[in-house]
Amino acid sequence: MALKDFPRHPLLFGPSPVHPLDRLSRHLGGARIWAKREDCNSGLAFGGNKTRKLEYLVPDILAQGADTLVSIGGYQSNHTRQVAALAAHLGLKAVLVQEKWVDWPDVVNDRVGNIMLSRIMGAEVRLDPAGFGIGFKDSWNQALDDVRERGGKPYGIPAGASDHPLGGLGFANWADEVQRQEAELGVFFDTVVVCSVTGSTHAGMIAGFAGQDRPRRVIGIDASAKLDETRAQVARIARNTAELIDLGRELTDDEITVLPGWAGDYYGIPVDSTLEAIRLTGSLEGMIIDPVYEGKSMAGLIDLVSGGQIGKDSTVLYAHLGGQPALNAYGALFTA
Ligand SMILES: Cc1ncc(COP(=O)(O)O)c(C=O)c1O
Repeated sequence: MALKDFPRHPLLFGPSPVHPLDRLSRHLGGARIWAKREDCNSGLAFGGNKTRKLEYLVPDILAQGADTLVSIGGYQSNHTRQVAALAAHLGLKAVLVQEKWVDWPDVVNDRVGNIMLSRIMGAEVRLDPAGFGIGFKDSWNQALDDVRERGGKPYGIPAGASDHPLGGLGFANWADEVQRQEAELGVFFDTVVVCSVTGSTHAGMIAGFAGQDRPRRVIGIDASAKLDETRAQVARIARNTAELIDLGRELTDDEITVLPGWAGDYYGIPVDSTLEAIRLTGSLEGMIIDPVYEGKSMAGLIDLVSGGQIGKDSTVLYAHLGGQPALNAYGALFTA
């Protein structure tokens, strides 16, 4: 089945904005850098990359007659916040298992930002002490059972909507959208830089771009600090998605690039390069990025351009995937 034949329930304002980052480009002394903004792609609780993925899950949710969305993430999960918004939008309930993925000392970590927004939107938030991991957990099965016991009909959405058969479609569609925007703008992005953790954002892009005539580099920057798992997950989802949308060929290993070097030692803990990238992007462009995901992928972009691995004559698209609400749980980092 071609991508256009999969049912999609629109949740976005339309194509997400694409614009140049001129002052950052000048500061780095070359490579023309642009951003495509999933952080302002929708009116649903600030949107983000998951909102795009969820567009392809909604028809299945509605077809199954589910009345409660059940999902899982860290305390400051952007994904669960977008699931809560989707539930509100569709008139469904949401049960969210929020695990202690990050050992972060900020005392308001479980009260501000994403988790606060989910509570405002009426989700049942369950705090769980379990640590970081993108696999299936007992707490998640328990939440599904609890909904059934209450007589409800749950629909499970895994972490990041990644380990779902349709999870890669949203960003395969993003690849098509980029191609249309390039035609309108008269540019070609030879390099795309994207943050990768649960994998289906990057994987969907790989599958989507692989079907286009003109090859380009899609560079995933690992922010999970578990490189092998991220790479395996991206490869698996990219291949599944390619098959789903009838790409008609196998993806080769060199189409799947996940780079280490900017995650630090732990998921969710920023390192110096993360904080420098956040301040640089904010002060040069007024573009806000977060310490968990985008700060790490932007640090990667900055180093790859500065170090020449991305050439001066390159035109680069930075995928801004959202995530700013989590900044509220990191206030101690920005007191001056
Ligand atoms: C803001 C932000 N950027 C990047 C990512 C990584 O995307 P993915 O989990 O699809 O790899 C996520 C979610 O995990 C996110 O919320």
